[in-house]
Amino acid sequence: MDPRLQLRVQRYGWDRAATIYDRAWSRQLEPAQALLLELARLTEGEHVVETACGSGLVTARIGRAVGPEGRVVATDLSEGMLEEARELAAKEGLENITFQRRDAADLQLPAGDFDASLCCLGHMYVPDVPAAMREMGRVLRPGGRAVTAVWGERKRCGWAEIFPIVDSRVETEVCPLFFQLGTGDTLHREMAAAGFKDPEVRRVVTTLSYASDEEALEAAFAGGPVAMAYSRFDDDVRAEAHAEYLESIAPYRVAGGYRIPGEFVVGRGEWRP
Ligand SMILES: C[S@@+](CC[C@H](N)C(=O)[O-])C[C@H]1O[C@@H](n2cnc3c(N)ncnc32)[C@H](O)[C@@H]1O
Repeated sequence: MDPRLQLRVQRYGWDRAATIYDRAWSRQLEPAQALLLELARLTEGEHVVETACGSGLVTARIGRAVGPEGRVVATDLSEGMLEEARELAAKEGLENITFQRRDAADLQLPAGDFDASLCCLGHMYVPDVPAAMREMGRVLRPGGRAVTAVWGERKRCGWAEIFPIVDSRVETEVCPLFFQLGTGDTLHREMAAAGFKDPEVRRVVTTLSYASDEEALEAAFAGGPVAMAYSRFDDDVRAEAHAEYLESIAPYRVAGGYRIPGEFVVGRGEWRP
């Protein structure tokens, strides 16, 4: 897929998803976000850069962890997501965070300036993962640490059929390499290749809970990476795609909704260029 097209699909898709994202995903992503922050071991006064900060769910926690003497630069490709993040930071009175619209592979920040570089569930969407990993390192001081969380193995993510269901109805795939980083030892290899020493990688089994068909459909279609493609479906195509997706998650139906298995992979490495 043409990298520029992938960036546009992501940027404008997440703009569309922005106001739905927290309702659809904040509870479901908590285990990945919590482990990312645990591995980051942030302390007061530190300088932190965040890539793909989205609506600011992790950003606000970083801002509180580093305190008023600390500094956070939060970046994302989507202005819509950044708007949500700015609002959250303002609501929480966090004045130590600045927001910038940036591609993960080109943060446009000085080299060696940060103690920690974090990215929660962003690297599955970037066209050039090695460049984005190197960029996380480039901005760190020697000994600084990077932590990134991605979705795990396709076969352990019960909602994975969303991609072929959408891709079969559009001209170009939405997230061609979505599960690549979470497969086998790929995340470890990518971090090591980017210059991180002895990366530590952990897998977390999780469950996505939805109370109804409507909740499961909103999260999968309107609240995430396929939102751009979905916005162009007419009513008939939407109905067909909904029915196929519900059939794909039917094995996980329980009394009162769905409990769909998932997996996150979180990697941490020290920058030793
Ligand atoms: C699943 S959300 C994660 C948001 C947030 N980190 C969280 O944990 O809730 C993915 C985010 O990646 C961003 N994104 C996608 N491609 C990107 C790129 N190439 N560079 C920077 N951000 C990107 C999207 O705009 C979206 O906000």
